[in-house]
Amino acid sequence: MKFFIDTANLDEIKKAASFGFLDGVTTNPSLMAREGVSHQDDHIKAICALTAGPVSAEVLATDTPAMIEEGRHLAGLAPNVAVKLPLTMEGLAATSVLAEDGLKVNLTLVFSPLQALLAAKAGAAFVSPFVGRLDDVGHDGLELVEQIMTIYGNYGFETEVIVASVRSPQHVLKSALLGADIATIPFNIIRQLAGHPLTDKGVAAFLADHAQAAQAVK
Ligand code: G3P
Repeated sequence: MKFFIDTANLDEIKKAASFGFLDGVTTNPSLMAREGVSHQDDHIKAICALTAGPVSAEVLATDTPAMIEEGRHLAGLAPNVAVKLPLTMEGLAATSVLAEDGLKVNLTLVFSPLQALLAAKAGAAFVSPFVGRLDDVGHDGLELVEQIMTIYGNYGFETEVIVASVRSPQHVLKSALLGADIATIPFNIIRQLAGHPLTDKGVAAFLADHAQAAQAVK
């Protein structure tokens, strides 16, 4: 399973990369805005320099020709850019063209298994089901991931499933159990994945025992 970080914050990306298991980055216009970025080109280049993995950069255009133009522009910023497009009819049409160009497309804002089926048929390299936002409106986000994994398995689609809108370690655990290819995880959740109170308690006990033994031989 690959781990991406879902952020546009350079310090968070550097920190996550230092852990040694960062496989890529996803951004979106809201995450860019949170960093005060209004023209994303230089910021995308800076992120791409921090990881060899794919960096999803989202287009703002909403009609197909403009999406294609903006997608090609974003892909030209660095070799590891994946063009992120919303899963609309216009986005699907742009995906087919960009995929023909040999570019990696991440179709985002996916809330149904049929949207994910269309993403694969359009040639998207990645599809991003938003589990947290589905949970927020009383649906089961992980059920969507399970359905997509089944459909892709049935037909051998190579589109990779990025579990997005991750809100808890449980989302990551259940995605791993379902065999999802990738989870894109906010930094605070990455921290929660590593932490366990019994680990902290164990470290403190080992250090205390060692200090006591060292004191005894003095
Ligand atoms: O990158 C897209 C996605 O992960 C957004 O998550 O928390 O805004 O629903 P969230």
